Order: sequence, then C-alpha cells, then structure tokens
Amino acid sequence: METGLAKKTVIVTGGASNIGRAISLAFAKEGANVVITDIDEVGGKRVASQANALGKGGVYKAVKLDVTKIADVEATIKKIVDEFGRIDVLVNVVGWDNVVLFKDTTPDFWDKVIEVNYRTYLNCVKSVLPYMIDQKCGSVVSIASDAGRLGEVRESVYSGAKGAVIATSKAIAKEVGRYGIRLNTVCPGMTIPKTEEVGETSMWKGAEGFFSGEMLEKIKKNYPLGRIGTGEDTANAVVFLASDAASFITGQTLSVSGGFSMI
Ligand SMILES: NC(=O)c1ccc[n+]([C@@H]2O[C@H](COP(=O)([O-])OP(=O)(O)OC[C@H]3O[C@@H](n4cnc5c(N)ncnc54)[C@H](O)[C@@H]3O)[C@@H](O)[C@H]2O)c1
Repeated sequence: METGLAKKTVIVTGGASNIGRAISLAFAKEGANVVITDIDEVGGKRVASQANALGKGGVYKAVKLDVTKIADVEATIKKIVDEFGRIDVLVNVVGWDNVVLFKDTTPDFWDKVIEVNYRTYLNCVKSVLPYMIDQKCGSVVSIASDAGRLGEVRESVYSGAKGAVIATSKAIAKEVGRYGIRLNTVCPGMTIPKTEEVGETSMWKGAEGFFSGEMLEKIKKNYPLGRIGTGEDTANAVVFLASDAASFITGQTLSVSGGFSMI
C-alpha cells in the first residue's frame, strides 16, 4: 500500500503521550515531517527525538501549544506553514476525562470536558482549513471514542463531546469535499500506556499500577478480540485514513477497539 506520506507535513496535537505519541511515531515511520504539539514540551521533545532515531529522514519538531486558545493555535499554524510551506495532515488527539456519574458532575467539570475534547477540535480544524482550501487538498483525522458512538456510563459529558467531534467532522466533510479535503474519525478502545509512554501532563500520569491483573482480565472480556488496545493499533488506522490510500474515504468513523462496538 502506497501511503504517499513521505515529506508531507503532519501536525499531531497531544503528541507527547500515549496515543498521540504512537501516532507521531507512525507518521515518522512513513517518512513524513511531523510537528508534535502539546502543552508538555519536554514530552514532545522526547517523542521528536524518538522519531529522529527511526532514521526515516523527516523533520521532527516539538512545539509547545495549548490548543484551547484559538489565537495561539492560529499563530502556531501560520508559523508551521511559513516553515514547511504547507499542511497536509492534521491529527486531533487532545482529549481528557474523569470517570464520574452524571449526577455527581458540576458545570465547571462539563466546561472542562467540552473545552478539551470539542473546543480544541474546532480551534484546530478552523485554523488549518484556509491553508488546505488554498492547497485544494488535506486530511484531518480526529480521535474520538466509542463513548461518542454508544454513550458510556460515568462518561456522559465526554460521550457527548466525542459524539460532537464525530458529527461535526461529517458536516465539515460535506462542506469541504469540493476542495479535496477529507475528515475522518477514529475511536480507540481502552488504551492503557506503558510507563515510558506516559507524558508529564497525561491523564494517565500517576495511574501506573492502578489496574490490578484481575481488573485487566475483566476489562479484556469486553473485547471480542480478547485484549486491550495499544497506541499502535490506533496509529495504524490514523495513518491509513490520512494517506493517499484512503483518498475516496471521508466523513467516516472507524472504531479500533477489538470489536467492542460493531456499528
Ligand atoms: N487511552 C484510552 O483508553 C482512550 C480511549 C478512547 C479514546 N481516547 C482518546 O484518545 C486521545 C488520547 O488519549 P491518551 O490516552 O493518549 O491521553 P493522554 O492524556 O496520555 O495524552 C493526551 C495529551 O494531550 C495533551 N493535552 C491535554 N490538553 C492539552 C491542551 N489543551 N493543549 C495541548 N495539549 C494538551 C496532554 O499533555 C497529553 O500529552 C484523547 O482524545 C482520548 O479522549 C483514549
């Protein structure tokens, strides 16, 4: 399969940890130039140097960026275009949640979940579109969750925010298909990082050892394929959807969750 990603410019938000880290490294393996944006600059630099060590000849850059701030997102995107000349792929990975019953949530918590999972997506897509429209091509892949397709207990607001990412991607895909721009969404299954894959500001930080062997066995039973997902599982699907091999695929939602959801 020809991905056509060598020398392409790829921006990954939340690339310093777990799933975003795996996605950044997967694009690096394809020979793409990868800009790893994250509030965790140290983690971003670590991933950039791991990408460099793969020896595929791309340019790997870590940029400190809080994607909740649209002015900062726009300024960073402009700098990236000034440096690389174009933006071929945006991967929206940033997200966050805390598991709690809806009856116990607060409006401040709703605001944070909506801001980190949905507003960040809007900020980034809005900021890259003018460049992609000028180029008459581009691909956006966003990480949602099966929670956004099924609704998940103790993740009510997160389910809604991820559902919004899925629906908005379809709507924008209909608007910008005429410019050769594609938007697709990937929904990972539970993806528990190894300690060395956890960034400083990851939602998994401090959760090392939280899951006992017994709990993990119970979790695995939810998945017909009988195992927990890895960042690479999701990264492979993202690379495919971003690539030339998926040039006739847009507005789609792909679960990479071992059969947890079959929609
Ligand atoms: N891990 C899972 O089990 C799982 C399952 C389904 C969906 N997801 C989704 O996958 C994505 C990645 O999850 P993960 O497990 O890798 O999380 P993670 O917390 O390990 O990584 C998220 C990264 O985003 C960064 N980030 C957070 N807020 C930011 C902001 N405002 N600006 C810039 N960077 C910011 C963090 O610093 C971190 O490096 C999220 O959207 C999550 O909702 C995860």
